[in-house]
Amino acid sequence: MKITVINGTEKHGVTYQLKEIFLEGFRDKAEITEFYLPKDCPNFCVGCTTCFRTDDHKCKDAEYVQKIEKALLEADLLVFTSPAYVFHATGAMKVMLDHFGYRWMPHRPAGEMFGKRAVIITQCLGAGGKSTAKDIKDSLSWWGVSEIHVCTFRLMSDIIWNRIPEKKRQVMTKSLKTMAAKMRGIDYTKPAHTKLVTKMKFYAVRMMQTGLGKQNPEYTDFKYWKAKGWLDNTRPWK
Ligand SMILES: Cc1cc2nc3c(=O)[nH]c(=O)nc-3n(C[C@H](O)[C@H](O)[C@H](O)COP(=O)(O)O)c2cc1C
Repeated sequence: MKITVINGTEKHGVTYQLKEIFLEGFRDKAEITEFYLPKDCPNFCVGCTTCFRTDDHKCKDAEYVQKIEKALLEADLLVFTSPAYVFHATGAMKVMLDHFGYRWMPHRPAGEMFGKRAVIITQCLGAGGKSTAKDIKDSLSWWGVSEIHVCTFRLMSDIIWNRIPEKKRQVMTKSLKTMAAKMRGIDYTKPAHTKLVTKMKFYAVRMMQTGLGKQNPEYTDFKYWKAKGWLDNTRPWK
């Protein structure tokens, strides 16, 4: 199996340790590709909207974005990590997610995403871990991913891994190992179940695209939906 990891920080801190614990259960069976932010997607989206209007390959940052996209599309399991920074995902993670705005369902979602599984790992000192996970989950669910698991932790102690009380480290480790075992047990030859809420979003957008296509048959997103057969009887889920 293939796993693609998007690390919301380059720091080898607590987030890194938690991610390593999760991945430990896969080292012998998975091909793991990791991206570290901001290094692997260093530039802000400047809002030129070229990706939305014409072609995502023409983005000024396509060399970074397309590399990440390829790894995401090839992966069976997506892993996203971030510490809480002022109650949200790191700026670096937000920058990367902005670059994938064109993959949101109202635009040009990748069909592959509808059958994928994802795990989000976040942690904070006291509060904000859940809202941090939500920042990432918002994008994943609008990309079409239905099966999204969240592991979020509150350190409530030191912020240096080795100085976090042993008991606390054990609790986090156990939780991550349990999640890893669950994800390891999945038969990845079968796509994840696409949830009703995801299908409802899809049908709402389908209606919108049909209307937009009547106004302008050359509209980029409409042409994409039409070419996929999604305005007819084809669906991105099995
Ligand atoms: C800019 C910044 C903002 C932060 N905001 C929060 C916050 O809103 N809530 C919180 O509990 N901790 C906050 N923290 C603390 C980190 O989430 C915490 O120390 C975390 O363990 C750091 O993870 P790392 O070791 O992987 O870098 C913040 C830290 C930084 C640097």
